[in-house]
Amino acid sequence: MTSRRLLSRLGASVGAILLAGAVLADTAALQIERGAYVARASGCLSCHGEDLSGGYRVETPMGTIVASNISPSRTHGIGGYARDDLAHVLRRGVAPDRRLYPAMPYASYRGMTDADIDALHVWLQDQDPVDTAPDHATELPFPFNIREGVVAWNWLFPGERDLPRVDDPVLRRGAYLVDHLGHCGACHTPRNAFFGMRDDRYLAGEEVDGWLAPNLTPDPVAGLGAWETQDIIDYLRTGHADNVVQAAGPMAQFVQHGTRHLDDADLAAIAAYLETIPAIDTGRQDMPVIPPVGERIQPRHLYGQIRAEMTEARGRSDPAEPELLYLDHCAACHGVSGEGQPQAYYPPLVQNAALRRAEPGNLLQVLAHGVPAGKLYRAPAMPGFVDELSHHQIATLANYTRTTFGDRQVSNLTAADVERALAPDDMPLPLRTLQVLAWAAPIGVLAGLSLIIWWLARRRRPGPQEG
Ligand code: HEC
Ligand code: HEC
Ligand code: HEC
Repeated sequence: MTSRRLLSRLGASVGAILLAGAVLADTAALQIERGAYVARASGCLSCHGEDLSGGYRVETPMGTIVASNISPSRTHGIGGYARDDLAHVLRRGVAPDRRLYPAMPYASYRGMTDADIDALHVWLQDQDPVDTAPDHATELPFPFNIREGVVAWNWLFPGERDLPRVDDPVLRRGAYLVDHLGHCGACHTPRNAFFGMRDDRYLAGEEVDGWLAPNLTPDPVAGLGAWETQDIIDYLRTGHADNVVQAAGPMAQFVQHGTRHLDDADLAAIAAYLETIPAIDTGRQDMPVIPPVGERIQPRHLYGQIRAEMTEARGRSDPAEPELLYLDHCAACHGVSGEGQPQAYYPPLVQNAALRRAEPGNLLQVLAHGVPAGKLYRAPAMPGFVDELSHHQIATLANYTRTTFGDRQVSNLTAADVERALAPDDMPLPLRTLQVLAWAAPIGVLAGLSLIIWWLARRRRPGPQEG
């Protein structure tokens, strides 16, 4: 072999090795990118934090459950997790050292594909470790602190349904994103008394953490029937749609850390799928939550004019108490006529979904606690009024804005309604019964044992007549 031929062969081999290396690196990079996407679509960062250090509290009627550190820290996170450990967590709710509560939505994730779990694992292990524990721990009362109890729950409520048998690849993708990655049903599907998802009420709306996760079925009045496909896409991408609806509570968080990162095709698939599920009329709503597109009023832009309008409104002869409250606390941002300043991200109240909804709960949450400054479309913060105003005043403001801007005919909320909306959820009766029984059972067993011992002791003791 001439040295030239040798050199050229050597060159070819080096080239091949470099190419193989580059392909591998590319595959790894693609895998990490896919894992990041799966994590976004699944809302992992919504609960475990952008740095995966955990700490988010899931409030349940049984107590607070704290999301774990899932950064690849070997001491405080999941640095020791093999791929299958992650699969067991996601599909069965079983971590290497303990069973998890269903506050971690494995009942939905159980349908995740192998490929998505592979990618998620690679991505998780590629993140920076955070070597600290969340600053609070999960504390549930007896008997719910016994994690083995979850076995019974998992057996009774195996979780989100299997994917529907549809051929259309877009609808299949939509169903997968909704049911399994996006775990929409974990918040939007009503639950039975033991917190199992009710398949017969699929996505018909449910309360979470004091917020209503609304009806997502295509019912024209109670659900998303009046929403354009684009409204759904915009809402999931930006947290608001066409100046009539804004995400403010748990959904704002999920949009921010999750759905806003999805690509156009996936958002369109979610919207398309939601339009095909069975419509369920939940009864209470009497007009579409957001007005159909032809009836929407486009707000005039009042930027810079509000101060003059407020002076003028105050100068009018004795405005009634509700209007005064509104001028004092709301008009500076939302405008005297409720048209907001959309270009500065202060939303219009005219036709606002929060005011048109029959259930006032989400509105009362916003009035009491405000809306934290969103990183979503750079929305500024709205202050909460629970410390400044009485429950009666909050009810008055809710009634005034619902009837003035929200197209509601009547609104008679009282201080008691505000009280109720802001109080933490009670434990449902069956769970409370379970708790009482769990306490009663050992006490019963102890009492029974004492009785037997006492009886045995009595028999042993020589009776007085024998003495
Ligand atoms: C709704 C909030 C929520 C979402 C969304 C969520 N988790 Fe969790 N996760 C939790 C909570 C709460 C716990 C702790 C449960 C417990 O203590 O039983 C947990 C526990 C875990 C654990 C167990 C860690 C340990 O303690 O050993 C892992 C792993 C995990 N989550 C990964 C994920 C991944 C990956 C995703 C996204 C696919 C995800 N989680 C999405 C709330 C959530
Ligand atoms: C952590 C609980 C949670 C999860 C998970 C969740 N949502 Fe929501 N969603 C809510 C809540 C609560 C609201 C009410 C508005 C708010 O929070 O600001 C809402 C509002 C909405 C709305 C607006 C409906 C209306 O009538 O105003 C849409 C659309 C929506 N969610 C779609 C989805 C989709 C699609 C998914 C899954 C990809 C999903 N949500 C997952 C809790 C959740
Ligand atoms: C400092 C400015 C500011 C003040 C004062 C203010 N808001 Fe807001 N409000 C906002 C902003 C900003 C948002 C939108 C937040 C977002 O989209 O993330 C908002 C959102 C809302 C929403 C929609 C929430 C939803 O869930 O869709 C309603 C309703 C509302 N405000 C009513 C009021 C009322 C009534 C008052 C007076 C008690 C008031 N606001 C006072 C800035 C303000």
